Amino acid sequence: MKTIGVLTSGGDAPGMNAAIRAVVRTAIENNMHVLGINNGYDGLMKGDVIEMNLRSVSNILNRGGTILHSARSEGFKTEAGQKKAAEMCKALGIEGLVIIGGDGSFRGAQALATLGITCVGIPGTIDNDIACTDETIGFDTAMNTVMEMVDKIRDTAESHSRCSVVEVMGRDAGYIALYSGIAVGATIILVPEVEYDMQKDVIDVMKRTLATGKHHFVIIVAEGCGLATKMAKEIEEETGVETRATILGHVQRGGSPTVKDRVLASRMGNYAARVLRYDNRSCVVAEKDNKIVDYPINEALAMTKELDIDTYRMAHEISI
Ligand code: ADP
Ligand code: F6P
Repeated sequence: MKTIGVLTSGGDAPGMNAAIRAVVRTAIENNMHVLGINNGYDGLMKGDVIEMNLRSVSNILNRGGTILHSARSEGFKTEAGQKKAAEMCKALGIEGLVIIGGDGSFRGAQALATLGITCVGIPGTIDNDIACTDETIGFDTAMNTVMEMVDKIRDTAESHSRCSVVEVMGRDAGYIALYSGIAVGATIILVPEVEYDMQKDVIDVMKRTLATGKHHFVIIVAEGCGLATKMAKEIEEETGVETRATILGHVQRGGSPTVKDRVLASRMGNYAARVLRYDNRSCVVAEKDNKIVDYPINEALAMTKELDIDTYRMAHEISI
């Protein structure tokens, strides 16, 4: 009987628990032992594991965060750390690993695969910045959270005829900003992938919109685009519209996953465990055109994904 391990790594994302549940249940149903590894690669290096059974994953499908906890492990980035983790796998009898995380975590998986541990990655991050998959686990929930929060913020912006600059997560990726920005009807959306000019793309647009009779504004800014507080001050000075900044922060990473994230996580978790059981090859699981597929880890890491510029253009054409 084969033993596999499952861990979560990097930033947590809603739906990670649903993926853990699917991995554990699929593995046990297909005659494998499963060890849950606590605290990502840190826990793997230390051998911090728990034996999982069918009941260890009861009542977690609806919970945000990750029952296995997550970590950003500097030690594992070193060759010595990776060797230690591979040796720990061998000592614990772990022949295959499911790694739920982002690109960084998959780089770690690639390193472990070259040391003889079969690794299957599952894309879990709110940023949706993993090129090989149409969507990552957590993205849909994060966008819905932003929508709910900004709908509330809009009430105050409207009541006080103010501008609200809302900073959303995404240091290098504008997916959350773009799609939640469309959903809340933001007048302006700023993403790290598209350069912007403060005067032309923000101040002038606001002045043009003010002239049409609009008196309140929502501007969505991805965190990679500069400080929301600084931007708010400049907007107020240049347009005369009272402006407030809100940094949404970690509310976007928590909470109960949406239907879409629960289903995606369940499908990916099931697929990952079956790959380890029946194919025994290292890969990254992905969703392509509503099908679950997989790619070799190095291929998945080499892929690039561009933000949809047509959608970005569309958002601004209908936002005035
Ligand atoms: P994410 O997986 O969400 O992209 P990080 O980039 O923080 O998050 O990566 C998570 C963990 O994966 C890191 O803390 C580190 O332990 C491991 N990792 C990241 N990059 C590498 C790398 N180049 N080689 C080996 N391990 C890495
Ligand atoms: O990768 C997910 C993410 O939430 C990014 O959007 C954000 O830039 C980063 O993690 C913040 O990380 P933390 O607050 O955990 O250090």
